[in-house]
Amino acid sequence: MVTTSFLRVPPTPLSSTPAQSVAAEAGDLVRQLAAEGHLSADAAEQRIREIEGRLATTGSYRHSPDELLLGARIAWRNNPQCIGKFYWRGLETRDCRDTGVGDGGGGEGGDGGGDEGALFEALVEHLRLAWNGGKVRLLLSVFAPSAPGRPGPRVWNGQLIRYAGYRQHDGSVVGDPESVGLTEAVQRLGWRGKGTEYDVLPLIIQWPGRDPRFFDLPSDATPEVRITHPEYPWFERLGLRWHAFPTISNQVLELGGLRYPLAPFSAWYTCTEIGARNLSDTNRYDKLPQVADGMGLDTSRDRTLWRDRALLELTQAVLHSFDQAGVSVIDHHFASKQFVRHEERELKSGRTCPADWSAIVPATSGSTTPIWQRRYEPTRERPNFTPHPAP
Ligand code: ARG
Repeated sequence: MVTTSFLRVPPTPLSSTPAQSVAAEAGDLVRQLAAEGHLSADAAEQRIREIEGRLATTGSYRHSPDELLLGARIAWRNNPQCIGKFYWRGLETRDCRDTGVGDGGGGEGGDGGGDEGALFEALVEHLRLAWNGGKVRLLLSVFAPSAPGRPGPRVWNGQLIRYAGYRQHDGSVVGDPESVGLTEAVQRLGWRGKGTEYDVLPLIIQWPGRDPRFFDLPSDATPEVRITHPEYPWFERLGLRWHAFPTISNQVLELGGLRYPLAPFSAWYTCTEIGARNLSDTNRYDKLPQVADGMGLDTSRDRTLWRDRALLELTQAVLHSFDQAGVSVIDHHFASKQFVRHEERELKSGRTCPADWSAIVPATSGSTTPIWQRRYEPTRERPNFTPHPAP
């Protein structure tokens, strides 16, 4: 038997590595940018002295636009959870560091708070830009960083677009079971959803030390795709749909010793994320029994492999529907091949390719992709994106 014990080694959370000083991390970032050809060694040393000066007088420093953009790209490249890193150089960033930062935010003695409404407007704008009429962009918006004694803003949502999950009296859930906790939290703040299976949750925005506020997203910022099947007309009647692209909003961008707690990241979907996970996991939408019924499969025994057949048709339907709707989506075979190309390119550049095998191997047909046979180390390197503690 092949041993896969490395799978069980949990990645070391960055927060548990010994605290390196901000100055040292800033120095590492600037030298790395120099090593990758973005500035000369002299310019790097000069910039490091400048940062040290800022740290000595203000306790923090501000990234230059280039440090933000190039650093964010490296953070993506370093992230072990992502199969899409082939495109790391294509990441665009929006500089929202001054958005919504109130008077209290910048100076001494403020509560660190600011304008939640302004943050909301900028997040809506992020979604519109990332959507781009269906040609989904790789887009990161970077909001105010945390500074000593003044943590930056965050949202409670794991993704900017996600569906509510309503726990029923009998224990079942209408909507996305993953969102039950967040749905109940925002209901306690006064939000009332329609109670359908696909109610988009409002954004819950919070400056530390202040009450969270929620905001409903306008429908033009939350595009969705209705799922149909290329050969089964009945499929449409299942009423399945999904939001057009993911926007991860519960990760901190850790860059050069600074932490950006609100840095939503949009990209296109791989079809398996929706077909073979979100709509089919038994602890998510759990739709395989309905698909199998429609296909007339014998669901009385696992041995008929009805799940496997339904899973394939559902994933096919997702790919087909996104294509029909003109929305960017990739299939898992393409994604895996691109990942291996990325890995080879990184090796040629003298770098390793940190990856968590269990996160990048596709949810279906894993053994048919080149990733299956390969081995990876989920090394945690900085800069990086790290998960937020739950609010
Ligand atoms: N798996 C998550 C979801 O289904 C999204 C994770 C990021 N995926 C991506 N293609 N960038 O919503």
